Amino acid sequence: KIYNVILSGGVGSRLWPLSRKNHPKQFLKVFEGKSLFELTAERNKKVVDELMVVGNSDHIEWSKDLLKDIDLPKTFVTETIARNTAAAIGFAALAVQPDDVLIITPSDHLIQNQEAYEKSLLEAVELAKKDYVVTFGVIPTKPETGYGYIEYEGKDVLSFREKPNTETAQEFLDRGTFLWNSGMFCFKAGVLLDELKKYQPEVFEKSLEAWQKSENNLLDEESCRQIPSISIDYAVMERSKQIKVVPANFRWNDLGSFESLYDYLRTTGHPVDENGNMVIGTEIFTAFVGMKDCIFVHTTDAILVLQKEKSQDVKKIYSQLEKYQ
Ligand code: GDD
Ligand code: MG
Repeated sequence: KIYNVILSGGVGSRLWPLSRKNHPKQFLKVFEGKSLFELTAERNKKVVDELMVVGNSDHIEWSKDLLKDIDLPKTFVTETIARNTAAAIGFAALAVQPDDVLIITPSDHLIQNQEAYEKSLLEAVELAKKDYVVTFGVIPTKPETGYGYIEYEGKDVLSFREKPNTETAQEFLDRGTFLWNSGMFCFKAGVLLDELKKYQPEVFEKSLEAWQKSENNLLDEESCRQIPSISIDYAVMERSKQIKVVPANFRWNDLGSFESLYDYLRTTGHPVDENGNMVIGTEIFTAFVGMKDCIFVHTTDAILVLQKEKSQDVKKIYSQLEKYQ
């Protein structure tokens, strides 16, 4: 069986104040009346037999409702506390048979060119059936520090480096042998669990315990607390020796930070002034004096003004906030 596992547990802290704890960005109906979450399920439904959502208990009902019109079997795995993507993917793998193939997708990407997308997925599924851990490589266009970098030769992956600093990212770009990791993965459930066990035994064991003690796919909170919080990229991708990469020959936008949202909005004709400043979220006339490459984000109860290159740091403010999260 082939599953699409939609990871939907992040709060989108880098998109605060657009994204809030109770209204995470993936659920906002901003793309012709649809959310990124719904669009994710729709683009995968033709290729898979079943959908699985791994997400937080606060939003799981919401995700059920959003998917109600999709005519596929669905499984919902509920976390009460988020322990990052290594654990979330581990739960998905534990919920199925070892030979089932999982296509892991984030819920906050915008992807265009459905035909090319499906072609990449089918290619990945074939490699996954041969016991590879498959990544999807995007041709990089700038030294982005929020992504993983895949050093490749054809379909082989020579190394994987998560979130390098700007200098290293620039070096990777100059070398021309690196792709961005799209954040999607494909593998057999059993293969991933073996890799997790090998490289992150504690994540594996505690996740297994949380799963075994779960009731109706609601994970045991006490066991979850003990799972080290680490992303799949650091946990497995940087270490595994059986990774392959398929080219992502489709239009891919990770709308995870204001910088990427800015780049995307710009291509849709959203106004940018002569100094590269952009306003998001209000029609109120806004002027920038002496500022360059800034983004002004307006919501009814919070305003954010930021330098575009500092987009990754929005996460830091978010974690210091209480009332406005
Ligand atoms: N269920 C669940 N539980 N989902 C989670 C959790 C969790 O604890 N933490 C994060 N997620 C979900 C997010 O909602 C998102 O859909 C996805 O997992 C990826 O998490 P991000 O936090 O957005 O990761 P990232 O953007 O920093 O990095 C990843 O994606 C990049 C491309 O967008 C990495 O895979 C990078 O290598 C990659 O380049
Ligand atoms: Mg992301």
